[in-house]
Amino acid sequence: VTIERIPVALGERSYDVLVGEGVLGQAGRLIEPLLQEKRVFVITDETVAALYLPALLRSLQGSGVVPETVVLPAGEASKDFAHLERLVDALLERRIERQSLLIALGGGVVGDLAGFAAAVLLRGIGFVQMPTTLLAQVDSAIGGKTGINTRFGKNLVGSFHQPRLVLADIDVLSTLPRRQFLAGYAEIVKYALIGDAAFFAWLEGHGAAIRDGDRPARRHAVAQSCAAKAAIVGRDEREAGVRALLNLGHTFGHALEAECGFTDEILHGEGVSVGMALAFDLSARLGLCPVADADRVRRHLASLGLPTGFDAFGQRVWDADRLIGYMRQDKKVSGGRIAFVLAQGIGQAFVDRNVDPAEVRRMLAETIADAA
Ligand SMILES: NC(=O)c1ccc[n+]([C@@H]2O[C@H](COP(=O)([O-])OP(=O)(O)OC[C@H]3O[C@@H](n4cnc5c(N)ncnc54)[C@H](O)[C@@H]3O)[C@@H](O)[C@H]2O)c1
Ligand SMILES: [Zn+2]
Repeated sequence: VTIERIPVALGERSYDVLVGEGVLGQAGRLIEPLLQEKRVFVITDETVAALYLPALLRSLQGSGVVPETVVLPAGEASKDFAHLERLVDALLERRIERQSLLIALGGGVVGDLAGFAAAVLLRGIGFVQMPTTLLAQVDSAIGGKTGINTRFGKNLVGSFHQPRLVLADIDVLSTLPRRQFLAGYAEIVKYALIGDAAFFAWLEGHGAAIRDGDRPARRHAVAQSCAAKAAIVGRDEREAGVRALLNLGHTFGHALEAECGFTDEILHGEGVSVGMALAFDLSARLGLCPVADADRVRRHLASLGLPTGFDAFGQRVWDADRLIGYMRQDKKVSGGRIAFVLAQGIGQAFVDRNVDPAEVRRMLAETIADAA
């Protein structure tokens, strides 16, 4: 088995991301050296627990580690104050200590919630991310953003708290529903579009194999994405600058998600897919990027079965003004200006805070009319 190591360079908060096959079975050996006490606390959700918790516990016990577990309901609804309180109470009840380690085994929901619990419990304890969705492996498990949702919106309460280690086992992706897998794939495409044209060309050649289960291709795509995220986070841990590039496709995507009420009608990665196609359209419209590049982006996403426009949502009626309204509420708005991530071409993204909203509105209205 091949395991790739991607370092995240953050001074004394540096850590490794390990990507490969069979990582779950090696977890005990890989985590044991981090421990100052034998007990660890594994946080997971019901779906992932049924699939992968026994193997993780066996691996930990095999290395002399003593695991305890807390299992949460699966789904975004667990990322709230009520579940945070339940989780923190369950851990305090078991006398968790400053030196204890949390292990987040699951998708972005488990990672964000357990990571935030680790950030605030006893003013901060160590944690390990074991991401089990493609989205979590290439995105949410790296970079230290943790948090929960409130009734005012998503991810509005949280903290930067870096993990001590990230273990991404690509074998667990085999049980992920195709729709979830593709939503994560959109974030892989994002890294290529931000800064790596050669990676995009490679994805054009290997996207179908990645989707259909080719393990070396999956390993390479995940490792390459982790390296891209690690490089950006290493330069800008707290999103004062270049980290904002990671929002490519997200300003539009969030507006679509908000319009659908953050339901399963559109997954986050599906919104990002449409959003990236729109960001390249906008870039081409503004004369910043060749039309051929925008076409290539849309063609690749669509070829794998990802949505790239408003026609992907059946009967829903879209409204350009409402979508602009959501963009204005985004937490990345500053001084009333919406930050758009645009591109001069594939692999050449940049942040633009001076886009005229009227131009965006016109483009959305036309795109919506075309899809009807
Ligand atoms: N912290 C960050 O930087 C960051 C970045 C992006 C997204 N996020 C957050 O991530 C969350 C979304 O993460 P997600 O897409 O992983 O969702 P998720 O954690 O809800 O997982 C999706 C579903 O897949 C199931 N699942 C997980 N692993 C599986 C596997 N291997 N096989 C079968 N089923 C499996 C889960 O139980 C769940 O039902 C959102 O809350 C979002 O805000 C955070
Ligand atoms: Zn995203």
